[in-house]
Amino acid sequence: MKTKSHISYFDNQMHIENVSVESIAKDIPTPFYCYSYSAIKAAYLEYEAAFSELDTMICYAVKANSNQAILKTLSDLGAGADVVSEGEIRRALSAGIPANKIVFSGVAKTEAEITLALDNDIFQFNVESEPELLLISQIAATKNKFPAISIRINPNVCAKTHEKITTGKSENKFGIPIAKAREVYRYAASLPNIVVQGVDVHIGSQLIDLVPFEEAFNKVAEFVTILKNDGHKISIIDIGGGLGIDYSEDEIEPDKNAYATIVKHCLSHLDCKIIIEPGRSIVGNAGILVSSVVYVKKGEERQFLILDAGMNDLIRPSMYDAYHQIKPVNNSVTEVSHYDIVGPVCETGDTFSKNRELPTAKAGDLIGILSCGAYGTVMSSTYNTRLNAPEIMVNDKKFAVIKPRLSYEEVIAQDIIPDWLLK
Ligand code: LLP
Repeated sequence: MKTKSHISYFDNQMHIENVSVESIAKDIPTPFYCYSYSAIKAAYLEYEAAFSELDTMICYAVKANSNQAILKTLSDLGAGADVVSEGEIRRALSAGIPANKIVFSGVAKTEAEITLALDNDIFQFNVESEPELLLISQIAATKNKFPAISIRINPNVCAKTHEKITTGKSENKFGIPIAKAREVYRYAASLPNIVVQGVDVHIGSQLIDLVPFEEAFNKVAEFVTILKNDGHKISIIDIGGGLGIDYSEDEIEPDKNAYATIVKHCLSHLDCKIIIEPGRSIVGNAGILVSSVVYVKKGEERQFLILDAGMNDLIRPSMYDAYHQIKPVNNSVTEVSHYDIVGPVCETGDTFSKNRELPTAKAGDLIGILSCGAYGTVMSSTYNTRLNAPEIMVNDKKFAVIKPRLSYEEVIAQDIIPDWLLK
């Protein structure tokens, strides 16, 4: 159990901090997401402590979980934000994250998004291509602004993670290959309304092994030296996010201090401010998805534990074959069974786990799916016209709904029947 993430059992009852999950389920029908405020805070502070010897700005990757309560928690601690869309810029600002701590990443920034970012004077654009550089310069010229940019380089390293979330290989759409990047920096410096300030890299997500980071940062260091020799004033190195978490019992979560030591070792001699963009490692282990068993169905070869949470609530197992620990909320049953743990959605892919050993369960039992704080609710949908799972935040002995479940009326009212269909 993830006691360090503030999720543990007291008297065989799963608790988040000092609130029993069962007591929340008495108020809030399942499925729902539930986050520990203290776990989020602790993870952020671990980063702050690990990087205290370096001039660092921690820009939380909003995509991991963009709930206003979570952004406000982090903003109060002094966090900045890494955003990838107009929506995320708006969410970050609205939660009180100052524009001068916002970095804007992403391969497809549109004119409207660039305009919004310029109007708010964000800290930096992380640029992914030459046409993007040109567009930023053109829009900035109309406003007499001189935005600071870093160019995302693609170091061509293998991040040793799932292929769908690796980004630093030459076949991925992200960044500019180092071999070509020098020329792109020259181009950037030639544009009238661009200020070249840094270098950006992000090689992938859910990295458990620190070696690929070291490989990438060494390449970045070498490249920054080249850029400085070319006359560019490089004062920022944005090293992206990507530090993994321990989803399974036998995975060991990489240590933030060891990560910081690598950063120091590879980059501190360059006298640059370091930006980090952690997402998952701040919120991932702080959240669980709570669900109820609807039926136990005995097939010919397998037993199915059919939950009221599905792939529309948590898509990671279907999409990345991701492993999540699944635990009973009431841990007093000692007999175990093996189950295929599935959701209600009409697809075979709506499977959380196959042949998983669990204490023998019955209809109505509450189940906690762990490590769901990152890339859970943000990737959810209302597929099968299932209502969104609400979100709850726990702080010590209290809890609050931080996103309610919409009603069927609200969901259906989003559709519009054109006049010509109404008789
Ligand atoms: N910075 C950039 C530019 C990114 O693209 C990402 C994540 C991050 C920071 C944050 O990475 P983190 O610290 O969270 O690993 N949906 C997938 C993960 C996609 C990650 C995308 N980029 C999943 O559920 O595993």
